[in-house]
Amino acid sequence: MTEQNTTQNAAAAGTFALGGDLEVNRLGFGAMRITGEGIWGEPENPDETRAVLRRAVELGVNLIDTADSYGPNVSERLIGETLHPYPDDLLIATKAGLVRPGPGDWRPNGRPEHIREAIEGSLSRLKLETIDLYQLHRIDPEVPAEESLGVMAELRQEGKVRHVGLSEVGVEELRQAQEIVPIASVQNRYNLTDRGSEKILEVCEQDGIAFIPWFPLAAGPLARPGGSVDEIASRHDATPGQVALAWLLRRSPVMLPIPGTSSVEHLEENVAAASLELTDDEYTELYEVSV
Ligand SMILES: NC(=O)c1ccc[n+]([C@@H]2O[C@H](COP(=O)([O-])OP(=O)(O)OC[C@H]3O[C@@H](n4cnc5c(N)ncnc54)[C@H](OP(=O)(O)O)[C@@H]3O)[C@@H](O)[C@H]2O)c1
Repeated sequence: MTEQNTTQNAAAAGTFALGGDLEVNRLGFGAMRITGEGIWGEPENPDETRAVLRRAVELGVNLIDTADSYGPNVSERLIGETLHPYPDDLLIATKAGLVRPGPGDWRPNGRPEHIREAIEGSLSRLKLETIDLYQLHRIDPEVPAEESLGVMAELRQEGKVRHVGLSEVGVEELRQAQEIVPIASVQNRYNLTDRGSEKILEVCEQDGIAFIPWFPLAAGPLARPGGSVDEIASRHDATPGQVALAWLLRRSPVMLPIPGTSSVEHLEENVAAASLELTDDEYTELYEVSV
């Protein structure tokens, strides 16, 4: 990609109507990396962090993914401080259901009373009255899913949540959840070389549910010199990460990648991937070698 392409707009990725009514550009931004090391505490460079958030919006990103557990609280607070009042079309997706005893330590807590308390904190830090997409970060093995999702359904009825999403679930868990509350999104780890969620991706496609792949930039060994991604990237004057993102966008119309970064330069490079068009042969080659 040429220098001028690094200022391309996220709109080039096309749009998806999340929950059927909230239209977003399909290339979003993941705000987990705007905290300190171990996704703990304040970022090393707060000015750059705020610049990343502002630049994302300038470049047409209107889906930002965060969670109360990022920092904890830091990512949501920085988003609220930096971007509020929000542009009308900005969708901030957040999550509850993981607590943080320390850096690098993540524990599920899906108790209804915890989720009720968590949403009040998220609403306050994000300066919102309604959370457009509220995701259950993990299904807590100690708490029946009906209880955690039951409270999400109540929050939806109360108007504090517009749409409910899940994270790291299989098809059966999705089907069970759908009996309790309509599900608008599934956020699972998925990238060119980690395709364990193919089955649920297909179910999301059938049901018109957004599939939000986390860790989307990984291209693994395919990005090594001489590997498929590396060769295709050279052909397009692009980076392997851009090819990994372009492949995801091409993989499914319900795919909403949320690459995360703490650097404006990396953000610009990632957004530019929305304009990178792989040929049919390149897409198929990557599909086949990465299975
Ligand atoms: N639901 C879940 O359980 C879950 C779990 C993990 C993440 N997530 C979400 O998914 C989002 C993305 O996941 P992720 O952060 O794990 O994976 P990712 O976006 O694939 O990778 C982020 C890493 O890549 C680096 N990076 C980003 N752009 C780059 C570029 N252009 N060139 C070189 N390096 C680059 C970042 O470092 P720099 O800061 O140096 O750019 C960071 O270390 C998160 O922000 C979060 O919102 C969800």
